[in-house]
Amino acid sequence: MDIAALHNRNVVRQMEHVRAGTTDEAEGVLRVPAESYTDPERFRLEMEKIFLRVPLFVGLSHEVPEAGDYKTLEVLGKPLLIARQRDGSVRVMLNVCTHRGMLVAPEGSGSRPVFTCPYHGWTFNLDGSLRGIADPHKFGEVERKGLGLTALPCYERAGMIFAVLTPGLEVDFASFLGGMIEDIEAVDFPSFHFYGTRRIEGANWKIAYDGYLEGYHFAAAHPDTIFPRTFSNVMAFDAYGPHLLIGFPQRSILERLAGVPEGELHRHENDGFDFIRLLFPNVSIFVAPEVTQIAQLLPGPTVDRNTTVMYYLHREKLEGEARRKLEEIIDWLWKVVEVEDYGVGLAVQRGLASGAIREVLFGRNERGNQYFHRWVDYYLADCTGPVPAL
Ligand code: FES
Ligand SMILES: [Fe+2]
Repeated sequence: MDIAALHNRNVVRQMEHVRAGTTDEAEGVLRVPAESYTDPERFRLEMEKIFLRVPLFVGLSHEVPEAGDYKTLEVLGKPLLIARQRDGSVRVMLNVCTHRGMLVAPEGSGSRPVFTCPYHGWTFNLDGSLRGIADPHKFGEVERKGLGLTALPCYERAGMIFAVLTPGLEVDFASFLGGMIEDIEAVDFPSFHFYGTRRIEGANWKIAYDGYLEGYHFAAAHPDTIFPRTFSNVMAFDAYGPHLLIGFPQRSILERLAGVPEGELHRHENDGFDFIRLLFPNVSIFVAPEVTQIAQLLPGPTVDRNTTVMYYLHREKLEGEARRKLEEIIDWLWKVVEVEDYGVGLAVQRGLASGAIREVLFGRNERGNQYFHRWVDYYLADCTGPVPAL
C-alpha cells in the first residue's frame, strides 16, 4: 500500500479546504439513537460482538522490552498478563491462577523469571505453563498440562501489542489491522522512547471516542488550547478498513507548504498539518514532536463509563531539564483532554441519560463519526450486510 501517496492526497485536500472554507463531507446527516449511549443491553452487545472478537491494543513493546518483563492490565473486567518470552516473542494470558482464581502477577509491571501465585504459591513459567504445585504430594493427582494460564491470541507489530479477549478465537490480525498498521509502522514507534501512562475517567466509550473523530468542536470546546494552532471544522478523512486517518490543517498550512511538491507533502506531518490515526474500535494516536499520545479507551464497567489510558512517547531520550519540560507538556495535554474533552463527555452522558432527546445527529462534516458508527452497527449485525465505505 502506498501510504505516502495517500498522505499526499490527504494534505492536498486539507489545503483546498482551507482555501475554500470547506471540509470533507459525508452524503447526509446521520441519526444515532440516544439509547446507543445509555442502554446497558446495547453496551453488552457491543462488548460481545466487538470487544471480545476484534484485536485490541493492549500495550506497547516498550513496556516489556526484555525476557521476563511483564505488564498487567484489565480490559472489560478481564485481568491480562503480557509477558516477554525468552525467544523475544510476547504472550498475552489471563492473569488468573488455575488453582483457585487468584490474580497471579502483581498489578502494574516488572520483571520475573517465573510467576508465583501469592495465595498458595503455585508457580507458572513465563509462557504461562504450570511449573510447580506447592506441596504436590499433599495436593493429590491433577493433570498439570491443562493447568497453565489461559493464553489469548496475540500479535506484535509496529511497536504495539494486540490481543483478542476470546481464547482460541481465530483472527487474522494482519488483515484486520490492514493498511493502518503499515501507516503506524512508518511512524516507527520502536525508535521512540516511552514516558509512562496516565488515566482519565470518562463517559460511555463511544461518547469519548466521538471526540477524537472530528475537529468540529475545536472552536467552542478548545478555544485557548487547540484552536489557536488548528482550524476548527476542517478535516480530510481517509480509511483503512474500519480504521481512520484524519488530517487536521494547522493555521500555518498554506505558508508552510507553499512550494512543497505534492509528492513531498507527506514528509511535513506536524509542519503545517497533523494526523490523528484511529484504530477501530478504541485507540486514537496523535504523533507530534512535542509529545506523542496514544489513547486507549477501555469501556465500562457500566454503559456510562470508560477509563482511558494515555501512553506518552517522545522521539528523543530526554533527561534533566528537557525531561521536566516534557512532563509539563504531558500534564498540559492530559488536562486539556480531561477537562475539555472528557468533561464535555460526562456532561453529554447526563444530557442523554435525561431522555430529553431521542437521537443525536452527526452532520455531513462529522464524516469520521458517521463512518465509526456505521462500523459499530456492521459488527453488531454480525458483519453481515454491506461493508461500510467512507
Ligand atoms: S489460588 Fe493460586 S496458588 Fe492457590
Ligand atoms: Fe477535543
